[in-house]
Amino acid sequence: MNVYHLRYEQYLAEFNGYLLKYVDNLHTKPEVLGESMRYSLLNGGKRIRPVLALACAEVLGVERSEILPYALALEMIHTYSLIHDDLPAMDNDDFRRGKPSNHKAFGEANAILAGDGLLNEAYAICFQESMKGEKYAVAAKYLNECAGVYGMIAGQSADMYFSERERAVTEDDLAYIYEHKTGKLLLAPIAIASILANHKNYVEFERFGKLLGVLFQVTDDILDVTGNFDALGKNVGKDEGKNKLTCIRLYGLEGAKLRADLYAKDCQAILEGIDGDTSFLRDLTDYVLNRKN
Ligand code: IPE
Ligand code: IPE
Ligand code: MG
Ligand code: MG
Ligand code: MG
Repeated sequence: MNVYHLRYEQYLAEFNGYLLKYVDNLHTKPEVLGESMRYSLLNGGKRIRPVLALACAEVLGVERSEILPYALALEMIHTYSLIHDDLPAMDNDDFRRGKPSNHKAFGEANAILAGDGLLNEAYAICFQESMKGEKYAVAAKYLNECAGVYGMIAGQSADMYFSERERAVTEDDLAYIYEHKTGKLLLAPIAIASILANHKNYVEFERFGKLLGVLFQVTDDILDVTGNFDALGKNVGKDEGKNKLTCIRLYGLEGAKLRADLYAKDCQAILEGIDGDTSFLRDLTDYVLNRKN
């Protein structure tokens, strides 16, 4: 295991420990609500967003105890977005993180409610943090904007809209989908760490976060063509069948790979300009570019 993997595992263990404490205290009536939330929350997942939050916090000197609640709220929002993304009315996917998707395990109604529950719990955490003072409220508001109707939800809406076969599509439409449905929730942990550090390196981190988010979705789309179920834990070859507007559809596989390389180079250039030890973030960018899962 190299230094990068070791640090990833450390961040992961730290986050998972914090998550488990939350999950242990989740007691719902009926129990199935909590069970279905727990099922998706603990169902593996790379946890790249919480890891990013912890890593950026470390670069910026933000205490773990300050960033962890936001990392948890963010992972809850991400998990809810996946539960709803897999629903028959959206992407209709039967597998997620190597296991039956939430609606396959618990039925559609429970899956919808598990998503709603995770979203509300995320904001309960944000409200709690906001009471600590202004910058904590600013961080919570930022997460809300990234997740909401001008953020991830807008991107998901555009993703559905442009998958209707009769729509004409442009490069700008693709950029809008990428920046919103995926980009915003990858930008959030990076920007929030900077907000908690009193906006230290804010502009650079924001530029890095935006690009990394787009890169992450370009590679997700590439993996839908080149990847496999065992590595990804989800079915592949879905985007073409659903007429999704992806990088592959507009530029072909080679064009998509070329763009991924360019985004990764831009990310590296920004990181080089940030003072502090960004070596983990540079390795993580490489991982996102070359990832198999
Ligand atoms: C999948 O996100 C959905 C996208 C935004 C592309 P991840 O690839 O981060 O999924 P998990 O959390 O590791 O399962
Ligand atoms: C999902 O994008 C993005 C969100 C859930 C916000 P995709 O639909 O491409 O993600 P996968 O491929 O199902 O993980
Ligand atoms: Mg989708
Ligand atoms: Mg999907
Ligand atoms: Mg995908």
